[in-house]
Amino acid sequence: MKIAVAIDGPAAAGKSTVAKKVAEIKGYTYIDTGAMYRAFTWYCLQKGVDCQDEKACCDLIPEVNIELRPDRVVLCNGIDVSKPIRESLVSSNVSYIASYKDIRLFLVEQQRKMAEKDSVIMDGRDIGTYVLPNAEVKIYQIASVETRAIRRYEENIGKGMECTLEEIEEDVRRRDYIDSHRDFAPLKPAPDSVLLDTSFMNVDEVVAAVIEIIDKKLAEKENA
Ligand code: DC
Repeated sequence: MKIAVAIDGPAAAGKSTVAKKVAEIKGYTYIDTGAMYRAFTWYCLQKGVDCQDEKACCDLIPEVNIELRPDRVVLCNGIDVSKPIRESLVSSNVSYIASYKDIRLFLVEQQRKMAEKDSVIMDGRDIGTYVLPNAEVKIYQIASVETRAIRRYEENIGKGMECTLEEIEEDVRRRDYIDSHRDFAPLKPAPDSVLLDTSFMNVDEVVAAVIEIIDKKLAEKENA
């Protein structure tokens, strides 16, 4: 059966780590929508455009082509941007880009197309509420700000990126605020989502919990 799994939640809640593993186990296609907003942000910065200037950023839409390859490489106009989109300059500007309606509409159209073909697990902020409102499974994954900041800090240090815990925590708080207060498709749980607080869970426990939720929903569907 073809299904869609939506995982939403605040920054650094571990959504992508979990979604990737669940995708591998269940044979679904993983779609990292945050990477698309990050790639657009990277392009604006490359062009020297101020990310707080909505019109200037939206004017770039016709020249941006973002591709998520099956091997998880992110391409922007054919350039591999998988690494630079994780750097702090992109992280600190991406929430502005993600608040612009025209850019969202442009990227959401592509996200919906990707979900037409195969079973997908898509993570982001508005997947269950806006991108795929009919997703069979919707999970809202959260963790405390402190836990999320430590997880992201350790991840960055592991990748050899320079950062401080304070910097990361400040960025996470700021992004949470902007993502949940924007006018169009803000971060919020879908009413039919399952809340998963991962503050005191390790990755394997979260993966197992997500798979249990998926299997339960699938069984309900089959019996309906
Ligand atoms: O998940 P992430 O940290 O890579 O996402 C980067 C930013 O993109 C995040 O601050 C919010 C935004 N985003 C969004 O608004 N909607 C999505 N579906 C995915 C990400």
